Amino acid sequence: MTEEFHKVRRLPPYVFEEVNKKKAAARARGVDIIDLGMGNPDLPTPSFVVDKLCEAIRDPRTHRYSASKGIAGLRRAQAAYYARRFNVKLNPDTQIVATLGSKEGFANMAQAITAPGDVVLCPNPTYPIHAFGFLMTGGTIRSIPARPDEDFLRAIDRAVRHSIPKPIAIILNYPSNPTAYEATLDFYAEVVKFAKEHEIIILSDLAYAEIFFDGAPPPSVLEVPGAMDVTVEFTSMSKTFSMPGWRVGFAVGNERLIAALARVKSYLDYGAFTPIQVAATAALNAGDAAIEEVRSVYRHRRNVLVESFGRAGFHVPPPSSTMFAWAQIPEAYRHMGSVEFSKMLIEKADVAVAPGVGFGEYGDDFVRIALVENEHRIRQAARNLRRFLATEQDQGQKAAAGA
Ligand SMILES: Cc1ncc(COP(=O)(O)O)c(C=O)c1O
Repeated sequence: MTEEFHKVRRLPPYVFEEVNKKKAAARARGVDIIDLGMGNPDLPTPSFVVDKLCEAIRDPRTHRYSASKGIAGLRRAQAAYYARRFNVKLNPDTQIVATLGSKEGFANMAQAITAPGDVVLCPNPTYPIHAFGFLMTGGTIRSIPARPDEDFLRAIDRAVRHSIPKPIAIILNYPSNPTAYEATLDFYAEVVKFAKEHEIIILSDLAYAEIFFDGAPPPSVLEVPGAMDVTVEFTSMSKTFSMPGWRVGFAVGNERLIAALARVKSYLDYGAFTPIQVAATAALNAGDAAIEEVRSVYRHRRNVLVESFGRAGFHVPPPSSTMFAWAQIPEAYRHMGSVEFSKMLIEKADVAVAPGVGFGEYGDDFVRIALVENEHRIRQAARNLRRFLATEQDQGQKAAAGA
């Protein structure tokens, strides 16, 4: 009984764990690590949402099992959000399921639709559940580029011609974690046309729908006429309303797919605690003011990060959405790979970032920097980096002079 279980063998130890251990060890020594590693929002949930939870929890009727697919009011609020924000009409009874965070929804959708050996087209690098949700259910992943451009379209076309069996689904995630790439409606239209032609399901992860700074608001795939025939889209309250610990998200779209997810969930859970769903309903119905505040905090942090890291000698391309920057490892250190580089930053600059390889092998030249510390701490991280890079340069020059 010492062999790893079949399913567990398909889940390699979390790459981030190595970096986390280094972080924990440094903290245990009393070092103040500035943690830009995990995408765990640090902002408080808006107080009116907390108040609503407290009010609902005092009613003992809310203490019973809730509804697995979400209470009706919450599903109606999500329908109203899609109508307002994307001009997409959804039937709250048949086209919406509330999930225990979008991650749970995504993983259980994978469970609902995958037979052993089914092929799924998944961007690389990407948020880990996009691949592992399917690997856990016995599916097979074929990597496609993360950037939404001609290469992506060529890759899915090649994949359909050469994969046996034919792929069952394409994963989309724009704005993307970790790359912050964004897709246009024209790009989505191309993917929808392709998916319909080849009878492939589209699973779109729109977790960062509301975290955008410069350009137009990110579109939904469901805005493409006819997309509903093949698409399910996942959204999340975690980033939009700074509610990561509450575990509320949604799957919306094609009725057959939503019914499949609802069926699986009906065997697994009784829905989130009702007061949480009541409070989430209030958040969704409150409109844009709370969201605008969250956006503004991340926008300022983004500006400080790009400017201060740039001055320190670490070029960070400005993301125009998400709460992440995706930065190439400076040339001199690229050979180390992202895990060793991230460990070095913890040790020598007291700064934690996420190694790009944790999101897929094609991410190994990069690190992901999360905007989860305040502006003051981000500036401090930049000062630490500058000191570290200057010391390294100094040592390099001395070694060269001595050689
Ligand atoms: C792209 C993406 N999808 C899903 C999630 C998970 O969101 P939730 O908290 O709703 O499960 C995250 C969280 O970081 C994410 O970045």
